[in-house]
Amino acid sequence: MKNIGIFYGSATGVTADIANRLAKALGVPAGDVHNVADTAPTALADYKLLVLGSSTHGSGDLEDDWYDFLDGASALDLKGHTVALFGTGDVGMADTFCDAIAKLHNALEHTGATFTGHYPADGYEFSHSEALLPDGLMMGLALDENNYPQFTDQRIAEWAQRIKKA
Ligand SMILES: Cc1cc2nc3c(=O)[nH]c(=O)nc-3n(C[C@H](O)[C@H](O)[C@H](O)COP(=O)(O)O)c2cc1C
Repeated sequence: MKNIGIFYGSATGVTADIANRLAKALGVPAGDVHNVADTAPTALADYKLLVLGSSTHGSGDLEDDWYDFLDGASALDLKGHTVALFGTGDVGMADTFCDAIAKLHNALEHTGATFTGHYPADGYEFSHSEALLPDGLMMGLALDENNYPQFTDQRIAEWAQRIKKA
């Protein structure tokens, strides 16, 4: 089994760019960075640590390409695999900020995978997110390239170090 695979869905390229920046921070080669639009869900089984990312679209929805992929992925047995989630959003949609992170979590929690990478979203002003846990952490790395691009580099670097140790 390979060590780390990154899988993302991206409508306009923002999440794709984050996926590539995460790949650099994690030392993941380009061949292990997958756009879910043209990847078979069974590819998840090839990696120990699965780094999965989606932007939020509609009103709190996943990026479109995830739906077909998750149909297959949610049927997999991912016991022994670890999943770390990331997402891009916009605090302008203050009631559904980065909800897609929670949608990914909910779709995959029955696969037997272990989840890691809960991380704060301090400094981001929003009123609600499905991905916000009672302990104040988000279910993954939440980023907002429209309003807080200045936070992104440091958050990627720190989160990458944390999930590598998981
Ligand atoms: C039609 C539309 C709806 C959106 N809805 C949300 C939303 O509900 N919550 C959120 O946090 N961001 C929302 N966003 C912001 C996007 O998630 C954000 O711009 C993201 O970085 C886009 O990434 P992508 O190009 O990888 O798809 C929305 C953007 C658009 C265009």
